[in-house]
This record gives sequence, structure tokens and C-alpha cells, in this order.
Amino acid sequence: MILVTGGAGFIGANFVLDWLKHHDEPVVNLDKLTYAGNRDNLAALANDSRHHFVQGDIGDTALIAELLTTHRPRAVLNFAAESHVDRSIHGPSDFIETNIVGTFRLLESVRQYWLGLDAAGREAFRFLHVSTDEVYGSLEREDAPFAETHPYQPNSPYSASKAASDHLVRAWHHTYGLPVLTTNCSNNYGPYQFPEKLIPLMIANALAGKALPIYGDGQNVRDWLYVGDHCTAIRRVLEAGSLGETYNVGGWNEKPNIEIVHTICALLDELRPRADGKSYREQITFVTDRPGHDRRYAIDARKIERELGWRPAETFETGIRKTIAWYLAHQDWVERVSSGAYRDWLATNYAHRS
Ligand code: NAD
Ligand code: DAU
Repeated sequence: MILVTGGAGFIGANFVLDWLKHHDEPVVNLDKLTYAGNRDNLAALANDSRHHFVQGDIGDTALIAELLTTHRPRAVLNFAAESHVDRSIHGPSDFIETNIVGTFRLLESVRQYWLGLDAAGREAFRFLHVSTDEVYGSLEREDAPFAETHPYQPNSPYSASKAASDHLVRAWHHTYGLPVLTTNCSNNYGPYQFPEKLIPLMIANALAGKALPIYGDGQNVRDWLYVGDHCTAIRRVLEAGSLGETYNVGGWNEKPNIEIVHTICALLDELRPRADGKSYREQITFVTDRPGHDRRYAIDARKIERELGWRPAETFETGIRKTIAWYLAHQDWVERVSSGAYRDWLATNYAHRS
């Protein structure tokens, strides 16, 4: 069996659902259920005995030790993190606590467990750390995409905390021999993404008749990957990745934010036209930029293709259409996760932007 952390969040929940579609191997899913974690995401597994959910913190050493000795997983996959850049700017301390201290405590608990395995168990064991392309910093328009050898140059409290966690994972391999794998992925989109992030926020605001707030000039570039493709990549790295290696995962899909929002508007115009017959583009508003806003991310995903044969299956056109269809069909989900605390967050993040 495998232990997944953060499996009630966006990517983690997609991963657990996807895993149990492809395997019969059970999953213990440890998640703190912060604002971003939602058991609703796992509703399809309510009666599935292969899924065992535990509410808890990756930094709770006693709980982790108990889970490891009780369930004896052959792998731990660490998705748990504070993940939103804007929140890290408003309040970095949770990012330091979970992404750095939490990862450190998790690594230590896992190391103790791993040391107690027999030789075959130690050899077969894997700790897979799910990380981000943001650790590499920002690219200029003419720069080559991020390869695994690119220097770490994180610019936000979020990316700095993820960079620190990557360094800890690397060090636990080099110093203690812990069998680790790290993936650094570009921007994901798809079902169950919390509506604080660009794509679900724009869909929700459009349908609610609210402004579509574009930071700065809208020319910041991200490399978009459908979440299902990220899950496939993680499964492949777990299966065949070389120990201690990092793998960049991306969609070969660089697009400026304004183009993403135009695409969302065009699809909504087609699938759920506004009552007044106008385009959702009318709701676009340019607002004050994010401080320290990274200009461009782009992933060179040739290593994972060359060594592990992985390539994304979705194009942006197919993935975004599926995603919008999912949000249109699951507006009740958006309603349920948009609690009072979420509305407070919107006020914190957007009220001061002119
Ligand atoms: P998310 O915010 O949607 O989910 C994070 C999950 O972690 C939530 O369920 C939350 O409850 C849980 N969590 C937070 N702190 C915890 C703690 N201390 N102990 C246990 N659980 C805790 O994030 P996501 O977008 O699904 O990202 C998952 C991982 O993938 C993160 O590590 C993130 O850095 C990385 N990543 C995300 C993207 C992206 O585009 N979303 C891209 C690359 C990498
Ligand atoms: O690159 C991978 C990273 O992608 C992950 O590590 C992070 O966890 C994930 O949140 C994401 O970070 P970004 O900051 O790129 O994602 P976000 O959806 O917040 O923003 C995407 C782009 O859209 C970014 O350039 C900022 C811009 N934006 C975002 C919001 C929320 C806007 O213009 N307006 C908005 O309201």
C-alpha cells in the first residue's frame, strides 16, 4: 500500500482517484483538511475499502510514526503543502510551518520507519516529493525553459518554502540514503481546483457576473498542464524514476494569462452564454499586480520523456474544455467550498487592488 499526504487537495485528490482507477493497491490518505482540503473531492471513494482517510498534519511525528508502523506502506507520496502564492504574500508563516518544518518532520519519521525495514523493504521503498517549477524563479521571454539543472532562484514565500523542502529531500537522500524522487511540475488545471487559483477563479467569477481580475498587464506566462497528466507522470516516476533524481513535468503549453482568460470567456460564451448576449470578456478588469510577480515559467520536460517515456496526453484545448464542462456541471461543489473564510480571503486579496 501507499501513503499519500495532502490527498484531499486538488492534485492529491485527483491522484488518489486516478490511482485507485488503475491499481488495487490501497491508499492511506493523510490530510490536515485546511481550507484547501475537502473530503467532498473523495466522495466517489466513500464505500471503497481500498481508501483509508486520516485527518492529520505531516508535522505530527507521533501520528506519522503510528500510520507508518500500522500500515507499512511501500511508498510515501508528499503532496501536502500550502500552495497559493498570493496567500504566501499575505501570510507566510503557514508556508514555513507546513512546507519546510512539516516536510522535515515527515522526512525524519519516514527515515526512522525506512531504517526499520528489512533489506528488501528498504530497497523497494520510495519517498516521492511533489514540487513545483516556481523553485527555479522567473524566465525572460528569450530564455530557454527550465531544465532540471537550472539554478534554484525562488522569488515568493511560497516558492522559497518549496525550494527549501526540495533541498531537505535531496539532503536526506545524499546524507542518509533515503530513496527519494522529486517532481517539479508546472501550473496544473482541472477538476477540484480550489477557486482561489486563476482558472477556477475566472470561471466562478464569470458565471457570478463578477469582475475577472487580471494582475498587471496580463502578459505573465505559465506552462499549463492538465492535472490528469500530472498524475500519470507521478505514477510513472514512482514506478521507474532513478533514486535521488528530479524530474521536470510540464505541458509544453506556454500561454500568457490574458490568453487563458480569453479562452475561458470564449468557451463560456459557447457553453453558457450570458443572458444579455454579450461576451464574458466584458467582465475583464486589469488590477494591481502581484508583488514580485514572476514573469514567465516554462518547463523543459525532455528528461522525463527520454528516460521514462512520459508525455502529456491532453492539449490545452482538450483539457480546458473538459475543465470548464466539469465546473459547469459541479457548481454545487464550488458553492460548498466557497465558505465564509473563502469570501474573507477574496476581500483580503482583491479589495486593495485598484
Ligand atoms: P492544494 O492547496 O489544493 O492542496 C494541498 C492539500 O494539502 C490540502 O488538501 C491541504 O488540506 C493539505 N495540507 C496542507 N497542509 C497540510 C499539513 N500540514 N499536513 C497535511 N496536509 C496538509 O494544493 P495542490 O494544488 O493540490 O498542490 C499539491 C502539491 O503539488 C503541492 O505540494 C504543490 O506545491 C504542488 N504543485 C502544485 C501545482 C499547481 O499548479 N497546483 C503545480 C506544481 C506543484
Ligand atoms: O507553477 C506551478 C505553480 O502554479 C504551483 O506551484 C502553485 O501551487 C500554483 O498555485 C500555481 O502558482 P501561480 O501563482 O502560477 O498560480 P495562480 O493560479 O495563483 O496564478 C496564475 C497566474 O495568473 C499568475 O501569473 C497570477 C495570475 N492571476 C492569478 C489570480 C489568482 C491573475 O492575473 N489574477 C488572479 O486573480
